[in-house]
Amino acid sequence: MSTPRISGPAYLEDRSPGTGALPPRAWYPESDAARLGLGGRWRFRLSPAADTHDEAFAQPGHDTSDWAGLTVPGHWVLQGDGAYGAPAYTNVAYPFPVDPPRVPDENPTGDHLRSFDLPQDWPDGGSALLRFEGVESCARVWLNGRELGTFKGSRLPHEFPVGPLLRPTGNTLAVRVHQWSSGSYLEDQDQWWLPGIFREVTLLHRPEGAAGDFSVHASYDHRSGLGTLRVDSEVPGRVTVPELGLDLATGESAVAPVEAWNAELPRLYAAELATAGERVPLRIGFRTVAVEDGLLKVNGRRILFRGVNRHEFHPATGRALDLATMREDVLLMKRHNINAVRTSHYPPHPAFLDLCDELGLWVIDECDLETHGFHLSDWRGNPADDDRWTPALLDRAARTVERDKNHPSVVLWSLGNESGTGRGLSAMASWIRERDPSRPLHYEGDPSCRDTDVYSLMYADHAEVDRIGRRADGGPEERGRLPFLLCEYAHAMGNGPGGLAEYQRLFETHERCQGGFVWEWIDHGLDHHRFGHAYGGDFGEELHDGAFVCDGLLLPDRTPSPGLTEYAKVVEPVRIVPGEGPDSVRITNLHDFADLSGFLFTCTHEADGAGPFTRTLDVPPLGPGGSVEVELPPVPRPAAGEVWWTVRASLTGPAPWAPAGHTVAWGQLPAGGTGSAGSAGSAGSAARPELPRARGRAPHARDGLVLLGPAAFDARTGRLTRLGTVPVTGPRLDVWRAPTDNDRGAPWAPADQLARRWGELGLHRMRHRTDGVEPAADTLEVRTRVAPAGSALALRTVLRWSADAELLRLDVAVEPEGDWDLPLPRLGLRMGLPAAFGRARWFGGGPGEAYPDARSAARIGLHRLDVDALGTRYVRPQENGARTDVRWAELDDGVTSVRIEGDPVFSFTARRWTSEQLAAARHRTDLTAGDTVWLNLDHALHGLGSASCGPGVLPEYRLTAAPAAFSFVLSARTA
Ligand code: GAL
Repeated sequence: MSTPRISGPAYLEDRSPGTGALPPRAWYPESDAARLGLGGRWRFRLSPAADTHDEAFAQPGHDTSDWAGLTVPGHWVLQGDGAYGAPAYTNVAYPFPVDPPRVPDENPTGDHLRSFDLPQDWPDGGSALLRFEGVESCARVWLNGRELGTFKGSRLPHEFPVGPLLRPTGNTLAVRVHQWSSGSYLEDQDQWWLPGIFREVTLLHRPEGAAGDFSVHASYDHRSGLGTLRVDSEVPGRVTVPELGLDLATGESAVAPVEAWNAELPRLYAAELATAGERVPLRIGFRTVAVEDGLLKVNGRRILFRGVNRHEFHPATGRALDLATMREDVLLMKRHNINAVRTSHYPPHPAFLDLCDELGLWVIDECDLETHGFHLSDWRGNPADDDRWTPALLDRAARTVERDKNHPSVVLWSLGNESGTGRGLSAMASWIRERDPSRPLHYEGDPSCRDTDVYSLMYADHAEVDRIGRRADGGPEERGRLPFLLCEYAHAMGNGPGGLAEYQRLFETHERCQGGFVWEWIDHGLDHHRFGHAYGGDFGEELHDGAFVCDGLLLPDRTPSPGLTEYAKVVEPVRIVPGEGPDSVRITNLHDFADLSGFLFTCTHEADGAGPFTRTLDVPPLGPGGSVEVELPPVPRPAAGEVWWTVRASLTGPAPWAPAGHTVAWGQLPAGGTGSAGSAGSAGSAARPELPRARGRAPHARDGLVLLGPAAFDARTGRLTRLGTVPVTGPRLDVWRAPTDNDRGAPWAPADQLARRWGELGLHRMRHRTDGVEPAADTLEVRTRVAPAGSALALRTVLRWSADAELLRLDVAVEPEGDWDLPLPRLGLRMGLPAAFGRARWFGGGPGEAYPDARSAARIGLHRLDVDALGTRYVRPQENGARTDVRWAELDDGVTSVRIEGDPVFSFTARRWTSEQLAAARHRTDLTAGDTVWLNLDHALHGLGSASCGPGVLPEYRLTAAPAAFSFVLSARTA
């Protein structure tokens, strides 16, 4: 027999979900019953252990004069400038010794106190409930000195009956919150550990005859166009849907012709549930979800998820989100063509689901459950496979399903994340199936798929997705009959992900592959006075997982990253590609439900990025799956320059999520020909003017310099030192980049840890030896050998310079020596200009950053940006900011402009620090501008991939060391 603990409250460490809370019920944001929000400033005291103080504080009149103030909802570690402890980040490992259900003695405990009066108009009679929407991780509650109970399940609601305890004035609400509890073992999600009352606390009046729990069943028969409505209600009443002329008793069914709800056309009907004592507004969406013929269907059609995983996050307030932030998330998703959210890995604030109903997103609603840390001990002791924990798991399942069951946006329930396999999960699945047969189940962690209705994987590479799509992946027979989705893929950590377009092609090729959810929506970088945004380790955690917490498509301040722009392009619901004939486009409607009647199609014709000529295109309102070839209008053909068509699909009128004119999709093609720009893959080709030959001047030596046309070179090193009047740090071969998170790879896949392998070889410390500086009749040839110390591998280069009076031409030839068995980060030139050259203009891909396997969103045109705006402020500094398919680029200081033209097209990067400085920085605040603008003019770049958690760079985007030749023409002119 184990010895009972002498101290410490037992409820913390028992496996039960708690005591005293009412059974869960449906959530609704408002009704005509009175309610009182209890948010605002509370009195707060933090203790180092669960039992530092007794419960006396819960008694009315307790002296709190030495307590601090704290904002509720909120996490205490994010308030008080460090006075109340700090956040901590771990991915898989529990930040305490694993000994379930025991927790450490060091258990930060926050006592929260709030006094309140009932409003003057608080109704007499009836009863009242106290509702908590979310408290991490375990709370004990008292009202006016009487204990109401305890609860766990951080992101789940709990209600307590309080009617008889309420007084008109001077009520004292006391909540003791423990950071660690048995519940923490079930909440090992990859995120910051953030204790506190982080969602609302509300007092709800319950009039006599108030609504209790209720379930809205609103299905849709796509064959007949009829909707069937039935509202089952604990408390009987009537349901009215004025627009449909429906007025029926709860428990009764009614059938009516309706417009169905789907994520593209989120049709909701305003309705009301009226019981004797309460009127509850409802918004009803009719839709039917089913797994049929091996496909996940809504209203009879296969749907394709263009999804993201969304954690709740705000850089200042952690998981305490206000309504405006939630709405901003949904609007940003909709504007970036995202149509689905997995609420990783817990039910979100319930208002978020209302927004998904209203604005239209498919939702996988995931239960608050993850026991990933047990993986580190081969899942020994996993609560998901231990009957003693099953009541807690079932409680979590019930609180999820009961709270969220009336949202049409929720199309799948998910049991949780990374919790291994086991009886507890099966028990949850059985309970949910019985309670809500109208929605299929999702769970990724069990390859047998016994508890799920869809086959789901995370981070499967392209080849595996292809095999699954072809049903050639083996595995249990029953699994082979399930639809497939990637609940996580394309790890968006730092610069990346690469390879999105190739995944999308697979989803569009194989019916069974119904899309996926990029990991993840937003970087969890916390606001920090010194670092800008903090990640794991920045708060001195003894165990942490560093920057792995910053792996989103949004930067922490919700600035879209280039990865999001790329994703928006790749998942466009309208595809515009060059047609069969010249000057024609093929337009395909990739929506699952909507036709194209809401879109305005325009085509813009630009020569060298200038002189745009725009016309409207006549495109029929194609239904889903429809495709048409459209001829572009005739235009006067300009004499010279590169001529491109850009065809756009924009919203004709305002949508609830974007203004009229918002561009949803676009494509490009070279005028007078066919190509494939704007879709994934090559940038197409238009007739490009040839690079000037720039010949005729002879090199001559003077004062240690070699002069050639507008240029001066160091006679000893052959390095360019001046172009016209502009001092330059001459171009030299550059093969390294500040490793991206994806270059670093993951601990479990050493072969994909390219940054380490590049470092071991010494690519960050290449030595440049000059083998010859040889003037000839009208050229200057500079030969170098570029190699790291300790290695026989090298790159030999020949830089052949020639010039006329104004133009300086450089032809580069590179020849690798030795057996290069790893790809190069980049292959190109690096040069420096004075800091004043801070404005850039280029003709090529833009406006945003792009890399070989993430360049779908780069539009060929004329772009302008300041050097300071060219870079992306990834939370952990790394290679960024390249512009792809550049024909020419110019940098100017207001007086002089340095122009670089390339053949073939090149990638161009300009920044105020070197790659070495970028690589050395841990936070962006470590980077300070120097006296040089550093340019990289890259012939080629290695792709990005998503090896920080997933597959590396696809073979076609690997930069293999091989002989290469490329040319530039440089000039300096008056700006
Ligand atoms: C998954 C996990 C996520 C996150 C991701 C990597 O395994 O489900 O929560 O950790 O990897 O960022």
